[in-house]
Amino acid sequence: MNHYPWSAPRDIAASEITPQDVWRRRRDLLQAAAAVGLVGAMPRVLAQSPAGNRLPTKPGPFSTMERPTPRKLITEYVNFYEFGTGKGDPAKNAPQLLRTRPWSVQVEGEVRKPRTFDIDDLLKLAPLEDRVYRLRCVEAWSAVVPWVGFPLAALVRRVEPTGNAKFVEFTTLADPRQMPGQRSPVLDWPYTEGLRLDEAMHPLALLAFGLYGEVLPNQNGAPVRIVVPWKYGFKSAKSIVRIRFVEKQPLNSWQKSAPHEYGFYSNVNPAHDHPRWSQATERRLGEDGLFSRRRPTLMFNGYAEQVASLYAGMDLQRFY
Ligand code: MTE
Repeated sequence: MNHYPWSAPRDIAASEITPQDVWRRRRDLLQAAAAVGLVGAMPRVLAQSPAGNRLPTKPGPFSTMERPTPRKLITEYVNFYEFGTGKGDPAKNAPQLLRTRPWSVQVEGEVRKPRTFDIDDLLKLAPLEDRVYRLRCVEAWSAVVPWVGFPLAALVRRVEPTGNAKFVEFTTLADPRQMPGQRSPVLDWPYTEGLRLDEAMHPLALLAFGLYGEVLPNQNGAPVRIVVPWKYGFKSAKSIVRIRFVEKQPLNSWQKSAPHEYGFYSNVNPAHDHPRWSQATERRLGEDGLFSRRRPTLMFNGYAEQVASLYAGMDLQRFY
């Protein structure tokens, strides 16, 4: 059965596409090898990542057929301002500094069943799935990431939002001892983000616990983060500790810091430029070099078929 109903966008040459089953087969091989203690003997290309942090997953729907970006780039070229503003800072700082267990996520506000979830209880809420999504950063680079998670909707349903719940606000951990970036006022800490309730319920929106089949590296938002693939990457808040259901549209950190540059919706939109740069094209991580071409950015990051109806009738130049 084909779990990946979306074919790659037309701009990608067939030769560039590595179907999921190739990396998944590679992963299964690694798992089997780990089970019999063979990992040390595996060729380098197979042993891309250290064994031991694996998550039990099943193939999920909606994955892109594009070749996943190498794990090294996904984990080393990262935005996580709590650990510094340089792309290499989070990989340097987060692994030593962030304590990801014990960890709890408080779910509160306009819900009938508010609850504080221990991370291990949260993990058990729904079966974990592999979902390979395009990620488009607002800074005009992109990647293809094999996430591990389950639909955020599974959590939303569990806490039963009341009729007043119109939006959902996500809050990252606030702890300057673990997060040295919070000692400087680059953003109004803690990092917050928000979604409309129907966006949070969309089957593409994920609560993610891992990538490349393993638990999330700290710099990518361990132990739990949001992934909203049709929006710019900054909407996907990392290392979250609170999910609050609210009636009024929340203000997110980037909107607070530069409202004329960052809106609430932040849907990937090649026709709406950032005031300081074009959003029409993007550079794919790993495709650097003199002759590498920029890719055209796709409306809703290529997920228009699935999400455009959420915004029917809205002026997306105004609600950017
Ligand atoms: N979450 C927190 N808490 N702090 C951040 O600085 N950066 C965002 C988002 N989530 C950020 C965050 C931005 S700008 C991007 S592009 C993505 O994380 C990048 O992370 P990823 O490559 O792990 O998806």
